[in-house]
Amino acid sequence: MNVFIRRMESDDLDEVEEIEYITWPQYPWTAEDFIEASQPSTGNCWVLEDDKGLIGYSVQYIDADSSHIANICIRRERQQQGFGRMMLDYLINEARLSNAKYISLEVNVSNEKAYLLYKSFGFTVTERLKAYYSASEDAYKMQLCLTNADMYDYVS
Ligand SMILES: CC(C)(COP(=O)(O)OP(=O)(O)OC[C@H]1O[C@@H](n2cnc3c(N)ncnc32)[C@H](O)[C@@H]1OP(=O)(O)O)[C@@H](O)C(=O)NCCC(=O)NCCS
Repeated sequence: MNVFIRRMESDDLDEVEEIEYITWPQYPWTAEDFIEASQPSTGNCWVLEDDKGLIGYSVQYIDADSSHIANICIRRERQQQGFGRMMLDYLINEARLSNAKYISLEVNVSNEKAYLLYKSFGFTVTERLKAYYSASEDAYKMQLCLTNADMYDYVS
């Protein structure tokens, strides 16, 4: 199987938007959000695909010494086959190549799949954010330190 990651292009946007609406019907990113996030001055949007088509996508911001993952999604029928891990590994490597010292992200407290994925890479919770994505639910802010400095572990 030939799986690869490349930059998101305008031809991808309809499909990405479709997956996004299925995944987050209440607060999906729009095509305009992805276009804005793809500007060289702001961030990088990536897609993961194979011979069968688009598997997933992600949005990553990198600045002077840190990186932020704003979106990562694997289409439902391709989940639990290692693709989320593959995408996250790629983003961490991109951050390292840019000399980022840490990577941060937010995840809803109920999103156990994503939480466990991040935890398995060594991300730790640094803060609980009240009603972050919606009024009804808190989120965790998580960070992965890319240097050897100790990180504060919020949840044991
Ligand atoms: C979170 C998400 C990206 C994981 O992608 P995936 O391709 O299914 O993940 P992988 O197959 O690579 O699994 C990697 C790890 O994620 C965790 N995980 C994935 N699916 C899981 C499930 N159903 N239950 C528990 N843990 C799960 C596990 O830690 C797993 O490692 P393991 O297989 O060694 O146990 C995917 O579920 C997704 O796109 N969800 C919808 C969008 C979303 O929630 N994005 C994150 C927003 S913060």
